Amino acid sequence: MIKPIGSDELKPLFVYDTDQHAALTKEAESLPSVTISSAAAGNAVMMGGGYFTPLTGFMTLADAMGCAENLKTTSGQFFPVPVLNLVESTDAIADAKRIALRDPNVDGNPVIAIQTVESIEEVSDAQMQLMTEKVYRTTDPEHPGVAAFNSQGRMAIAGPIQVLNFSYFQSEFPDTFRTAVEIRNEIMEHGWKKVVAFQTRNPMHLAHEELCHMAMDRLGCDGLVIHMLLGKLKPGDIPAPVRDSAIRKMVELYFPPNSVMVTGYGFDMLYAGPREAVLHAYFRQNMGATHFIVGRDHAGVGDYYGGFDAQTIFDEEVPEGAMEIEIFKADHTAYSKKLKKVMMMREAPDHSKDDFVLLSGTKVREMLGQGIAPPPEFSRPEVAKILMDYYQSIN
Ligand code: ADX
Repeated sequence: MIKPIGSDELKPLFVYDTDQHAALTKEAESLPSVTISSAAAGNAVMMGGGYFTPLTGFMTLADAMGCAENLKTTSGQFFPVPVLNLVESTDAIADAKRIALRDPNVDGNPVIAIQTVESIEEVSDAQMQLMTEKVYRTTDPEHPGVAAFNSQGRMAIAGPIQVLNFSYFQSEFPDTFRTAVEIRNEIMEHGWKKVVAFQTRNPMHLAHEELCHMAMDRLGCDGLVIHMLLGKLKPGDIPAPVRDSAIRKMVELYFPPNSVMVTGYGFDMLYAGPREAVLHAYFRQNMGATHFIVGRDHAGVGDYYGGFDAQTIFDEEVPEGAMEIEIFKADHTAYSKKLKKVMMMREAPDHSKDDFVLLSGTKVREMLGQGIAPPPEFSRPEVAKILMDYYQSIN
């Protein structure tokens, strides 16, 4: 099986040993505590599940700056984005060596992890700006990822963590949320050797479905892991439970039995386009995928990124040999009226734009909201029905 990055085995930071877990839970009661940002809680969930192997906790400012600037920590470890625990104030924790991190996303702010404090550093405006510029390729405060990153505090608490739970993800998405450990185990149980992963934050329309079929066929994969984001999104994106049921319906009706795992991970969307694509590939290798689909405007928002920047970054910025997972680079994909099937545009050179069924996201949302199903060339009717029910329920 493909190895995790920088390690022979996964290093989940969740405390699996029950006695140790109980002891840490007790210890947490007497520790000074701080409520962390949603982004930091997502990082804790990802590290807990082994997705960010071999990280052992939150980065120092120097490591975070290194990852932002050239995708490497000060010791040369490859990682595509800063993983920071940024808080407003450290007054409540003074010079404590061990602190409890409280979850902002669960009622009552229960402790999600214990951190051993290695350093506390204040991040300057110039350093925040540099990290923002490098990771998001913009500092526009209107960019939802930039806004979320900069809404955090400026005190960076670095040091290893021990994770005590997976926030709200396990209870709210019991059938879908998985750790990297669980996905690796399931892939092994299936006996799959070639596995392609598909990232999504959207319900899957016909083009998404066909991209997965194309990748599986062309790569000769034994299995597909649909791995959806379950964390926070920008307003207007479709909530995870609705997406989840639309995706499950599509898989049930349009994929062979036992060829697909429908799964999800607990992390807020960064909307960082190319950089997020590298992070996406990183944690798909850790969960055991050998291939990863990157299509048009992967993890993008608005027009901050070129349609295929999230593909070229793998050749331009990722250090040689940093990852073993292979990228399945897909062109813009849509239904061809001429050929009566979904095609990658570069594979239909005699077509003009008008030969494809192209609908903007805004148009599709408008139709669904009015109870009008998008054409079957765009969306499976069973998927459209679930989405129409959702849009009508919120109108
Ligand atoms: S993402 O933010 O999670 O990337 P989305 O769920 O829309 O957004 O896309 C999932 C994957 O499908 C990404 O790799 C994206 O590039 C790809 N994709 C979506 N629609 C198309 C399309 N029409 N043509 C090519 N690739 C697409």
